[in-house]
Amino acid sequence: MLPDLAAADPTTGPAGRPDAPGDRVAAYTEGLTKVYGSGDTRVVALDAVDVQFEKGRFTAVMGPSGSGKSTLMHCVAGLDSPTAGRIVIGGTEIGSLKDKQLTELRRDRIGFVFQAFNLVPTLTAEENILLPLAIAGRRPDPDWYRTVIDTVDLGSRLGHKPTELSGGQQQRVACARALISRPDIVFADEPTGNLDSRSSAEVLGFLRHSVDEFGQTIVMVTHDPVAASYADRALFLADGAIVAELERPTRDSVLAMMASIDPRHMDAAHVADAAARVRTEERGTPVAAGGEAAASGEDDEQVVRPRHALEG
Ligand SMILES: Nc1ncnc2c1ncn2[C@@H]1O[C@H](COP(=O)(O)OP(=O)(O)O)[C@@H](O)[C@H]1O
Ligand SMILES: [Mg+2]
Repeated sequence: MLPDLAAADPTTGPAGRPDAPGDRVAAYTEGLTKVYGSGDTRVVALDAVDVQFEKGRFTAVMGPSGSGKSTLMHCVAGLDSPTAGRIVIGGTEIGSLKDKQLTELRRDRIGFVFQAFNLVPTLTAEENILLPLAIAGRRPDPDWYRTVIDTVDLGSRLGHKPTELSGGQQQRVACARALISRPDIVFADEPTGNLDSRSSAEVLGFLRHSVDEFGQTIVMVTHDPVAASYADRALFLADGAIVAELERPTRDSVLAMMASIDPRHMDAAHVADAAARVRTEERGTPVAAGGEAAASGEDDEQVVRPRHALEG
């Protein structure tokens, strides 16, 4: 059984420390440090990071390339082990777990969405979505399964293999797979990095919906200010440390923050890309993944807009 630190003393939070996050936090770190290499090749990828991810909130993690975004996500999700510090997910300190317990925690309590979709090519959409439960030897709750399928609007594509789906559809399959086990927290690393603006809007709208309607907790790494504007909060990393934070980020407030953190990034290709995407947003067309013909006929879907798009 997993040690349940939050349950140990609900009045004082994990480990009985009065200032520790209690029930409102899905995951947190204290002094999270990750060092790669040694000597001349030593890199401090994370430098004593303290961060909390509150339940039912959508957090964007931003920062220049190499600032530690992926390392932070991988450590908090138990995919990589820290050099120092504590990581607590749902009241469980993951450093205290044996390999098998950690595997079970990742499987049962964490959902993942990756830039490259990471679907199993030989399985249908439906089989991909149900794979985590199948591995765990569990059957889906039929009502929840139907809700997830309806929300990602894949009802007519469930029998298709990934190569028969557009990039946006593949990523919606990956999102459904991440949500099907009702995880404590979903980590998404650049989930729209391989998508055109229209498919990005669909996937981001779905993530937003899962927070608003299902109370899902989401942490999303992105370098796209438009993607970040779907979140409730944006954290900014630089050189392995959190250097700034925005509540209710908008595209413009994110761009301004990126500029103030490091003016060089205003010239970076990815910011120019993001700005170009904003300008051409209305003209975006679905792109096929892997050069396969995109499945068409989904162009009439309603696209959920960022909550704060019209503010600021
Ligand atoms: N496996 C690794 N070995 C050595 N250095 C690494 C490794 N992974 C990441 N790094 C370094 O750690 C820093 C943070 O990397 P990363 O978390 O991937 O940044 P980001 O996702 O923000 O681009 C970078 O300097 C990177 O080169
Ligand atoms: Mg990265």
